[in-house]
Amino acid sequence: MIATITLNSSIDQNIIVSGLVKDDTNRALDVIRYPGGKGVNVSKVVRELGGPTFAYSLTGGLMGKIWKQGLERLDIPFYAMPVEGETRMNIVLTDRRDNTQTRISSPGPHVGGAAIRKFVKHLLSVRPRPFLWALGGSLSLGMRPSLYAEIIHKLQKEGARCILDTDNEALRLGVEAKPFMIKPNEYEIERLVGKRLRSLRDFEAAGRSLIKKGISIVVVSLGSKGALFVTHDETFRVTTPRVKVRSKVGAGDSLIGGFALGLYQKKSIKDSARLGVAASTSAVMREAPRLCLKKDIPPLLKLIHIRKHI
Ligand SMILES: Nc1ncnc2c1ncn2[C@@H]1O[C@H](COP(=O)(O)OP(=O)(O)OP(=O)(O)O)[C@@H](O)[C@H]1O
Ligand SMILES: [Mg+2]
Repeated sequence: MIATITLNSSIDQNIIVSGLVKDDTNRALDVIRYPGGKGVNVSKVVRELGGPTFAYSLTGGLMGKIWKQGLERLDIPFYAMPVEGETRMNIVLTDRRDNTQTRISSPGPHVGGAAIRKFVKHLLSVRPRPFLWALGGSLSLGMRPSLYAEIIHKLQKEGARCILDTDNEALRLGVEAKPFMIKPNEYEIERLVGKRLRSLRDFEAAGRSLIKKGISIVVVSLGSKGALFVTHDETFRVTTPRVKVRSKVGAGDSLIGGFALGLYQKKSIKDSARLGVAASTSAVMREAPRLCLKKDIPPLLKLIHIRKHI
């Protein structure tokens, strides 16, 4: 089982226009609503690729109901702890004319200490224990930045392996809990190590410094340049082919989903890495809300290579 944790779930409302004009009335070509959040996206990918997954989150209000209906429709089993207030709605403005996606993220409801404690207690009681936990995204109001670190510390104390994908203070503190894996993109790792990183060698050195802190795998996702994998024993880059980009939403989450599923299926780190990059490449080729598509994977795997010399 690959369990996912989304602390600030959302409904993403994707409004599709052609040629957005500011300060004027625009007619939408289409409006699509779907459950969002990094953890949920990982669950979607694992589900699409035929693996077992379970999504844990906190939801509230009418948007919370829509979130739960969305997961039911996707056939993803979930636990949504009820909280007061309203699950947030994020806006994704897709402009077909210039192929851009503008996101407006909302802060999310205020979640009190008692609800957070109850949620964490529930996570610790999950049996059988999941093979891996993927945690990611922003925090709701009322959640301290150390919350990911606290959850990872508690889950890993019981023998679980955690993958963390977040940013800024939550990531900095999360690293202190020595998660099994982190997957920053180029900008997130720069903020994490507090340095401008220019070359692949710089990214490798930054990854290596994080491995020294006790993380087992650091994956730096590099957009169209693929991803750099740094482990205790080795560094390698996984290339990705040139493809037509339709939606970059959830590319990083798809990499995590594919990689986690590979490990679950007892594939080697390198084969799992190729599966992760294939899933993320498929996700950018497909228009939102679709992330990866299972049938894209075999042809993409033929075009995705491991480079030992970075
Ligand atoms: N233009 C592209 N062409 C091919 N593959 C891509 C492209 N952009 C992203 N990918 C794939 O998706 C992976 C993750 O992308 P990226 O580094 O942009 O993640 P991210 O910034 O974390 O994304 P997210 O918006 O999901 O947080 C890359 O490692 C790569 O495999
Ligand atoms: Mg990301």
